[in-house]
Amino acid sequence: MRKKVTLITGASGEVGTALVERLAAEGNRRILTMDVHPEPDSIKGMSTFLQADILDKNLFSRLVAEYEIETIYHLAALLSTRAEFTPETAHKVNVEGTMMLLQLAAEQSAWRGEPVLFMFPSSIAVYGLPDLDTKQRYSRVREWEWNYPTTMYGCNKLYGEMLGSYFNKNYRQLAAERPVMLDFRCVRYPGLISAFTVPTGGTSDYASEMIHAAAQGKAYTCFVREGLAIPFMAMPDAVDSILELATAPREKLRHQVYNVGAFSISAGEIRDLVVKAFPGTEITFQPDLKRQNIAESWPIDVDDSAARRDWGWEPKFDAVRTFAEYLIPNIKKRYQ
Ligand code: SER
Repeated sequence: MRKKVTLITGASGEVGTALVERLAAEGNRRILTMDVHPEPDSIKGMSTFLQADILDKNLFSRLVAEYEIETIYHLAALLSTRAEFTPETAHKVNVEGTMMLLQLAAEQSAWRGEPVLFMFPSSIAVYGLPDLDTKQRYSRVREWEWNYPTTMYGCNKLYGEMLGSYFNKNYRQLAAERPVMLDFRCVRYPGLISAFTVPTGGTSDYASEMIHAAAQGKAYTCFVREGLAIPFMAMPDAVDSILELATAPREKLRHQVYNVGAFSISAGEIRDLVVKAFPGTEITFQPDLKRQNIAESWPIDVDDSAARRDWGWEPKFDAVRTFAEYLIPNIKKRYQ
């Protein structure tokens, strides 16, 4: 008999490691993880890990022969800055990889006669505000507003959301007999900040870089202007939100895609909190205009009232608590 598993792609990434730790601690499921990068030490032994490319079709045929995939957390992606340097590769991983996994989930749903749960993290990068004036006027955007991404990553994520919703509702809509659909659910994350990992290839990375540099006594030059504000979230809230959406009763969900918010903060305000925690840290601002433009096109904050209403979303960490109770104590320990 095939073994029932939860599959996590992109398991070596920031959200991946945090999610694997949390699910392994719950201890009630078999976890299969994969990533093109090696498995980080912090999650070793918590799952069956495969170092593999999600574009490897043969791998998936082998996987379904051995495992019955009940749930997929599809986290593998190239983030916004990295994707601008290799847009074609980003499209392959972010779009073709997602399409392949959705097809696999659709086939598995039909085969089991029960929907496979497909969890997909999207991003504030799906938004594209055309100028600062508009950004000020539409400071808390709803899911369907300003969906004009300016990056390959943002385009890929927006299309991933649409593809997932299609597979959820309309896949094979003209077939004589509709197969069992997969159950697609998506959280649109703000910039994420972890005490344990530093992101690579994102545009919101300045927040994490500033904090981790300060904790190591290093000076930091921020690549966006002091006044630039976007929404951020502490990693524990990011993990909570995707797990809470995954366990929400399906009949309560009126949408497939939900904004999740926590706090909006400017780069200068992050600097102030960092300097308060690590007095004497030298933080300067030297905008890289191209990278700054990307972050500038993202909203100041997101309206997450749909998530709050439909499945009770409520972040636990505002900016002050994120620093005081999560980042500072854990980061200090890490670099001591
Ligand atoms: N953190 C991501 C990035 O900067 C946004 O989702 O690309």
